[in-house]
Amino acid sequence: MLECAIPEHMRVKRTCPVGTPQNYEPPFPGYCARFPEKMNNLVMAIIGGQYVSSAADGGAGIARIKEYVIEGPEALRPSFWEVVSVTDKKSAFNIAVIAYWPGTENYKKWAQESGFQQWWNGLDAQQEKHGWFLEVLSPSLQRFETIFSNHSAPEGAANMQEKISGELEEHGYWGSMRDRLAAAQTDQLTGEKWEASTTTEQSNETSGKRVQVQGKKNLCIIRSGQDWSGTLPDERKLYLETMHPVLIEGMNFLRDNGQEVGCYSMNLWDVVDSNTHKADRERTFGLGYFDDLASLEYWSKSHQTHINIFGGFLVYAKKLNFVLSLKLFHEILILEPEQQSFEYINCHEATGMLNSLRK
Ligand code: HEM
Repeated sequence: MLECAIPEHMRVKRTCPVGTPQNYEPPFPGYCARFPEKMNNLVMAIIGGQYVSSAADGGAGIARIKEYVIEGPEALRPSFWEVVSVTDKKSAFNIAVIAYWPGTENYKKWAQESGFQQWWNGLDAQQEKHGWFLEVLSPSLQRFETIFSNHSAPEGAANMQEKISGELEEHGYWGSMRDRLAAAQTDQLTGEKWEASTTTEQSNETSGKRVQVQGKKNLCIIRSGQDWSGTLPDERKLYLETMHPVLIEGMNFLRDNGQEVGCYSMNLWDVVDSNTHKADRERTFGLGYFDDLASLEYWSKSHQTHINIFGGFLVYAKKLNFVLSLKLFHEILILEPEQQSFEYINCHEATGMLNSLRK
């Protein structure tokens, strides 16, 4: 018996019809997290440093952030966190903690009581030898959805689940992401279309400055993860030869030409070892910021790069008779302006949402 992705207590009379085809049977299983009913929202925070090279400060910056996470009062520490890194399109090395709390109050208390907020507020952009960034995303659960391919391997926010769903009905067809979002039952979740100039790339000097980026209506954020650490040699070979290259192509398109499809920023991050910071975990994720859900849908459904990723996956899964050790997940956040906080200290102008300020 297939389950509806939207939990019963969030279901309302739809004014936006669901797109599930009649008598639909998904081609492969997908699961979501069931959070406690009393949980209203969650926080995903990305807190990191930006450097000219990976060796620049010997790991001192990320060690400082980890200290607040690990040594903050126990009851207020994030429910789940990991260390992630990426070299971005300006060849800057970014290393961050990505952390989750089961509500905004928990995050705010942690930030205060761990001493993090005081330290962050005291950073002087002109004195810092490298960049720092703090992105705090706080969707209500109506504006958040997550889906994963492996029942016993929840990822990210799904680590805060009360239980994992049975097999879902709304997945595996275009538009299913929208059908899984409770807020989309009655709202098209339209955002502000990004009108960046596509002809000239004027830089907007941000190094040596502390810059906050205002929230945008219905900003859409995707974290889409891939974990091939549990694959056996044949499947690993297939993944690395057939899926990984098309994934990189798709992510590079969005990173370098995202404005064509309303994507402010995209990076394919590595999840790294949280002690050694080595990128040897065989786990990656695309973290992308779109001007709205429709833009993300448009790219995934019609751009050749994701068609290749999606089509490649169906061939891959068929070859393995749908018995896969590859784990996939994604998280979608559709944010009201006040559910977003973006702050950058001494970072280059294409970092995260700073890119949306480009003239
Ligand atoms: C949907 C495959 C990477 C964006 C899907 C689905 C599959 C898939 C199978 C259907 C999911 C379902 O509803 O059951 C893959 C594979 C990837 C990958 C194999 C990497 C190896 C990405 C990345 C992004 C992305 C990195 C963007 C950052 C999307 C979106 C949808 C989707 C937005 C939802 C479309 C909709 O429901 O309308 N992908 N994907 N994917 N994927 Fe990917």
